[in-house]
Amino acid sequence: MDIKNVVCAVILDHGKIFATQRGYGEFKDGWEFPGGKVEPGETPEHAIVREIREELNTTVEVVRLLDTIEEDYPKFHIVLRCYLCRVKEGRLELLEHEAARWLDAEHLYDVEWLPADLDLVREKVEDLMDADSEGNLTAAGSADDLTNFDREDNRMDSGRRDARTGISAKEKVNRKEDTHMKVLMINGSRRERGCTYTALSIVAEALREEGIDSEIVFVGKAAMDGANALSACIKDLKIKAAGADGFVFGAPVYYASPSGESQMVLDRLFGAAVAELRCKPAAVVTSARRAGTTSSLDVLAKYPTINEMPLVSSSYWPMVHGSTPADVLKDEEGVGIMKQLGRNMAWLLKCIDAGKKAGIMQPAAVEYNATNFIR
Ligand SMILES: Cc1cc2nc3c(=O)[nH]c(=O)nc-3n(C[C@H](O)[C@H](O)[C@H](O)COP(=O)(O)O)c2cc1C
Repeated sequence: MDIKNVVCAVILDHGKIFATQRGYGEFKDGWEFPGGKVEPGETPEHAIVREIREELNTTVEVVRLLDTIEEDYPKFHIVLRCYLCRVKEGRLELLEHEAARWLDAEHLYDVEWLPADLDLVREKVEDLMDADSEGNLTAAGSADDLTNFDREDNRMDSGRRDARTGISAKEKVNRKEDTHMKVLMINGSRRERGCTYTALSIVAEALREEGIDSEIVFVGKAAMDGANALSACIKDLKIKAAGADGFVFGAPVYYASPSGESQMVLDRLFGAAVAELRCKPAAVVTSARRAGTTSSLDVLAKYPTINEMPLVSSSYWPMVHGSTPADVLKDEEGVGIMKQLGRNMAWLLKCIDAGKKAGIMQPAAVEYNATNFIR
């Protein structure tokens, strides 16, 4: 019998759980915890972050594994890993489900749960709801903050329109200009708001003009603060990478190479987050007072290009010059190169997104043995 590895997210708020109604397939109309299949090469933890982003346009973080449930369905055997999750960003929009409800203990069995989800409700969720009555487990805003629910029937339908924009979640995801894509940028300088940050901010602005979100993460301090800080930083980046569609790796030039701080982070990240980074477009950016830019860009570009990440280029090698942010802004050519880089990244992301919607998925991995000079 076929074995399906799937994951689901239990999102709690003050003793209420977030339940969704399936909008497609064999079990259409059944109620479940949101989630989906673990893809090849993915860990279950990353699958749940990706699935919730795809289904609810929301970024969650895993609090802990609650249970693993095995269930026989007529045509397959399911292994369902259930994670308690906390909402980090987003408002739980229904992009694939038919409806959703926040259920309290009294109404927990008002919906038709799918079999595996029902086991989870009985075995774990009831106790959990009890323990969360004060909102101490995943509290990250109230249910009202997290969703656009109809207060009267405590229900959200996928066709419901956003009060502000008048656009339904389903329409939103189909809109070309609203693709919900995000670029994660890493600032590998020792200075949080220095020249590298300025260069990345120009790229971010160009992406924003194209309707693409971004986040600049400063990693220089974590790299200098010792092993624990660096490990925590890599863990966080790995989760962020799972939810990102593209990347920009930025670093200042120190002695004609990318800063040691940036290399410490990238050395670790590219070991730890292969699946989260693979096949997503990346750009590299450097900042120098005077020299060492091209040798630094060569080193930075080695990271994405060992992990099947299409390298985004600009109208010149992606560098800015200066010792201060004000210098960078005076580097007219550097500013133009960064803007073009943002536009080129947006273009490639939209092409990949359009390809996915047309059924063109990332290539399957070729299997081969790693060899070296002595075997
Ligand atoms: C330790 C160190 C080494 C540096 N080495 C170089 C260098 O080799 N070439 C250069 O042009 N600038 C060098 N610089 C200057 C920085 O690369 C430059 O000011 C950069 O724009 C700073 O970016 P940031 O503000 O993001 O840190 C160095 C700076 C430091 C602190």
